[in-house]
Amino acid sequence: MGERRVVEFDVDRYLRNSKKLDLSDIDWVEIPKHPLCDGDVMCVHYMMDIETHTVIYLRDLLATRAANEPHVTAFLSCWVYEELWHGEAFSDFLRAYGIETPVEPKLPDGTTALPTRPSRTAKVREQLGIGHKLALLPSMLIRDFVALHMTWGAINELTTLSSYYQLIRRSEHPVLHQMLHKVIQDERRHFAFYRAQAKARLTGNPTAGRIVRWALQKLWLPVGAGVKSDEEVDALALYLFGDAPEGRAAIGEIDATISSLPGLDGLRVVEDALELALERAHLKPGWAGPALVAPRTMLAA
Ligand SMILES: [Fe+2]
Ligand SMILES: [Fe+2]
Repeated sequence: MGERRVVEFDVDRYLRNSKKLDLSDIDWVEIPKHPLCDGDVMCVHYMMDIETHTVIYLRDLLATRAANEPHVTAFLSCWVYEELWHGEAFSDFLRAYGIETPVEPKLPDGTTALPTRPSRTAKVREQLGIGHKLALLPSMLIRDFVALHMTWGAINELTTLSSYYQLIRRSEHPVLHQMLHKVIQDERRHFAFYRAQAKARLTGNPTAGRIVRWALQKLWLPVGAGVKSDEEVDALALYLFGDAPEGRAAIGEIDATISSLPGLDGLRVVEDALELALERAHLKPGWAGPALVAPRTMLAA
């Protein structure tokens, strides 16, 4: 008790500036005028589902010692709000394009009430597996587990924002680009928080470093594991990162950034995950291939 950590993140400033994603300059009418390929549609569905899932991740986080830390819980309060609006943004984007799976109830005037995908979200949660195995750890018992949660969060925010950049690279849809750039700005702040927290807790604490390294190597799975099927997780990874040198380079950068944290030298969990996905696709022809695309139920006109 009484120790002072230097956290390189201004929580006060973050809390004062936190707001719902501003989509006021999105031209919704433009969205159906530009094509999305099947891979793009798969990615936007995946992103919508995992953004909407953030509140469940929060539930698990609050069952740990992280709940005792006012700076962390204040951040999480705004973070989960911002993530909800990311999910809604992708939902609205898909609907404007003409896809809604399953079709959701409408208000009498034909508009859609918030939250926009209650049936889909309920279905996803019913099917839920154990996504992040962090939930399995008796983390209330071990103080250094907050360091693990913060490092885990940093990897997840960084892989998320990196995925959004890769989708910009792969898709030619100008409005999707515009929306992704906006979401990326939020994800950058989220990553900065988790990274700063992880760094402060790992600095001068080799025991925490060992726990974090061990747990990430044994337990880390890509964002969306448990929410999406194993094949869907692989399909996204291969579509965004496994297709070209730019994708592989982005994966390498994520590992380089995380392994620059104190005590995590040489750690490469994200690259290992991509390699396993590539291996599975190689061993099972058709696995996570172009056939695996989101069902394209078009909206009734
Ligand atoms: Fe997000
Ligand atoms: Fe985020």
